[in-house]
Amino acid sequence: MEIISVTHYEEMSERAASIIAEHLRAKPQTTLGLATGSTPEGLYEKLIKRNLQKEFSFKGVTTFNLDEYVGLSKDDPNSYHYYMNDKLFKHIDINPENAHLPNGTAVDLDQECRNYEGLMKDHQIDIQILGIGLNGHIGFNEPGTPFSSRTHVVDLAESTIKANSRFFEKMEDVPTKAITIGLETIMEAKKIILLASGEQKAEAMKRLIDGEITESFPASILQKHSNVVIIADQAALTLMK
Ligand code: F6R
Repeated sequence: MEIISVTHYEEMSERAASIIAEHLRAKPQTTLGLATGSTPEGLYEKLIKRNLQKEFSFKGVTTFNLDEYVGLSKDDPNSYHYYMNDKLFKHIDINPENAHLPNGTAVDLDQECRNYEGLMKDHQIDIQILGIGLNGHIGFNEPGTPFSSRTHVVDLAESTIKANSRFFEKMEDVPTKAITIGLETIMEAKKIILLASGEQKAEAMKRLIDGEITESFPASILQKHSNVVIIADQAALTLMK
């Protein structure tokens, strides 16, 4: 694992944007794996700016998001479809047909997981962006998820529901299920960039970098990947020596 320690959130976002920009200039037909949440928002702002300045184009880019809540329609402001459109897609020159997220309102969710997995099989992810949950989840692969998991429906952990309730009016509105790509699916990406900012992530970062590789801390699987770059600010790395 390469660990890039930066001073603050802004610098974390800028460093990640530079890596992606360089990659897109060299390989315009790139497949990106994308995440939602607070962590990558700054990165998306920087990518929008660079795209508007014509530093690179998203015209040849295909994207796959990690996850989507079950039961939220695409135009629900709390859905990840809405987030991605609002924070990235509507501002850049990507072909919307090439931007993929699981459909959390599919009638047959297991079939939707198979369909999403099938689509991803045709496009190996060049760069996967990840955030990390306080309990070590990546995507919505909660503690206990088998390392061999592929795209599946999950019951969100109580701590995840609580953490994500900040985006909802009340706790009862937070969906309890989601579709997520699996840990094995994530590990197939050629390169993984994990972003972390803030002291509340410090414990998770310590376990990710130094801890035991165990299904009870899903992100620990990343220690087995040969091309992981962690970009974290000093607050997130406070527990590292
Ligand atoms: C988001 C996702 C999650 C988040 C994680 C951290 O698509 O899959 O794993 O990356 O919950 O969220 P934030 O960035 O809000 O702290």
